[in-house]
Amino acid sequence: MQIAFFSSASMHQSLKMELAAFWQKFYDSNWYVLGPEVEAFEEAYASFNQTRFCVGVANGLDALHIALKALHIGPGDEVIVPSNTYIASWLGVSQVGATPVPVEPNPSTWNIDPQRIAAAITPRARAIMPVHLYGQACEMGPIMELATRHNLAVVEDNAQAHGACWQGKLTGSFGHINGVSFYPTKNLGALGDAGAVTTNDPTLADFAKMYRNYGSKQRYYNEMPGLNSRLDALQAGILRIKLTHLTSWNAEREVLAKLYLEQLQGVAPLRLPALGMDCSSVWHLFVVLAERRDDLQAYLQERGIGTLIHYPLPPHLQAAYTDLGYKKGQFPIAESIAQQCLSLPLYPGMPVEHIEIIAAAIRGFYS
Ligand SMILES: Cc1ncc(COP(=O)(O)O)c(C=O)c1O
Repeated sequence: MQIAFFSSASMHQSLKMELAAFWQKFYDSNWYVLGPEVEAFEEAYASFNQTRFCVGVANGLDALHIALKALHIGPGDEVIVPSNTYIASWLGVSQVGATPVPVEPNPSTWNIDPQRIAAAITPRARAIMPVHLYGQACEMGPIMELATRHNLAVVEDNAQAHGACWQGKLTGSFGHINGVSFYPTKNLGALGDAGAVTTNDPTLADFAKMYRNYGSKQRYYNEMPGLNSRLDALQAGILRIKLTHLTSWNAEREVLAKLYLEQLQGVAPLRLPALGMDCSSVWHLFVVLAERRDDLQAYLQERGIGTLIHYPLPPHLQAAYTDLGYKKGQFPIAESIAQQCLSLPLYPGMPVEHIEIIAAAIRGFYS
């Protein structure tokens, strides 16, 4: 038997007719860039995320870039980022010419530890970028307080946590301007690249709209050298259809995650994911920390069970960041997560029996 790490087949099968009808309408509309489809999705996502504005862009990395640019963050500035994150969080900072300053995660939630942020704030710091990693909301209350106290902006990287909450308030609605990715495997995924920024600030939303479109508000007149980073209209239409199912897909993910937690409880060589105080998760990934991780992964692979590692090398040790001069051992919590983390299959439509099979295989490996 083969157990895939991820499949969108079940989600897409149930939407096949709706997506086909949309495609027909879109094909005939003769309007393929920005316009009504993009606007309709922006409105729907802003309403879902409980922010005043959503501005659709080409992908999640551009969303972070545009968000930071809107805050006029650039060369000479520092942005606090988690040491444990996908490299795109750091790349967003580098793209505007600012410097990422890493802060270690809480060793049990694996998200940026608010207690450690203050020590990383220098006079050059301009913003904090919390990343709601693996689907779990960061502890946004303490982070927002710290930012206010130090006069810093907050840019949430909400690529992985559409629908997660801190104290009942949605991720992507705390920061001054926030980035979101709709990469196909995300909880809300397009059928290609897509992203957005979310904000309550009309000036920042206006900037993002201009900057994603060559720095132009009025056709052929450019206020600044911007990007072509428009959300593709076809993807916008697909995302609007999929968005109506996001809450039920997230609920399904939660049922599967709880089953894993039950089935894997008491397996001593594993550390299971833990939620921080007042933080909810939409279980974008089900990550465990495993002793003898690489052997376990190979063992599962031999039994047809697909797993992935998110992520094998933290950003500070990537060749892309040798210029920053970080050495192995400088961010030991992120490094030890990278050595032990293993993401188990979890996606809406995954048969629950698969979780039982995977848990039995893991128990077998350690017995
Ligand atoms: C935490 C995080 N930030 C940013 C991104 C970048 O998103 P995209 O792949 O849409 O550029 C991703 C997605 O892969 C991500 O996981």
